[in-house]
Amino acid sequence: MAQYDNCAADYVLAKKDSFRVDVEYFTFLHRMLLPVFQQQNANVQQDQLLAGKRVLDLACGDGHYTRKLKEHLGASEVVGVDISQAMIDIARAKEQAQPLGIIYEVADVQSLSSPAVKYDVITAFYLLNFARTNEELKRMVTATSNNLADGQTFFAIITNVCGDESTYNNEKHRKYAFMREAKLKNGFLSDGDEVKYTHFNDRDKTSFSYITYYLSPKTYEQVFKEAGFKTFQWVPFESDPKVEDRAFYDDFVQYAPAIGIIASK
Ligand SMILES: C[S@@+](CC[C@H](N)C(=O)[O-])C[C@H]1O[C@@H](n2cnc3c(N)ncnc32)[C@H](O)[C@@H]1O
Repeated sequence: MAQYDNCAADYVLAKKDSFRVDVEYFTFLHRMLLPVFQQQNANVQQDQLLAGKRVLDLACGDGHYTRKLKEHLGASEVVGVDISQAMIDIARAKEQAQPLGIIYEVADVQSLSSPAVKYDVITAFYLLNFARTNEELKRMVTATSNNLADGQTFFAIITNVCGDESTYNNEKHRKYAFMREAKLKNGFLSDGDEVKYTHFNDRDKTSFSYITYYLSPKTYEQVFKEAGFKTFQWVPFESDPKVEDRAFYDDFVQYAPAIGIIASK
């Protein structure tokens, strides 16, 4: 059974946390998508950013971001895939309730086939951090590369592998509604080490956890290169300058649970 089959409903609730909007989506839109697409067309409107583009959203989960790609960013066609049947069931139920024309499929990205017509944009929010080994990461990134048209860009967000040791086992994170636990050796993690994430939902005092896997920044960069990506850029999380509680978020992003990747073929 896929890890997310057990906590699909909890995960959907956690998506309502303000950090998802004020930090995660802000970074994705303003520090990842806009800089790339404004280079092509400086006057492009936000709601038309993906106009005319076929987009593949890997590990789409319940369709939280998959829907935004179409509804808020104007993508012409969107396909979402996820290994978890429970997640895809929720995504399809949302599509049925409010149709946007998005197609959802259950699939393991590691064994995704290559389409006849490749995608113009591929996104993956929290997929790559489930690769347990260099080889699994390579299969995911190669499948992504095989689905992406030449010259086009892959936007990924992964759990933060670039933070120092203070970002692990730090009780301070409890106030940010998450904890990241790992067994460090001499202050370091090695490729394949488990990292347990727990999200706390303060509204109903519940929490849920899942296991991700550490692979070093160097391993990521090497794997992307081997899979045929010509450029690779890390994008640290930033918060929306308009958030009310600036001090809280300035502190939060120093321990950011996630980081972005922009890679072009
Ligand atoms: C943290 S959730 C993110 C969901 C969604 N992208 C979002 O940000 O709301 C991670 C998702 O990755 C999916 N996943 C993990 N390994 C996968 C794989 N090998 N192929 C496809 N999906 C996978 C899980 O089932 C889960 O839905």
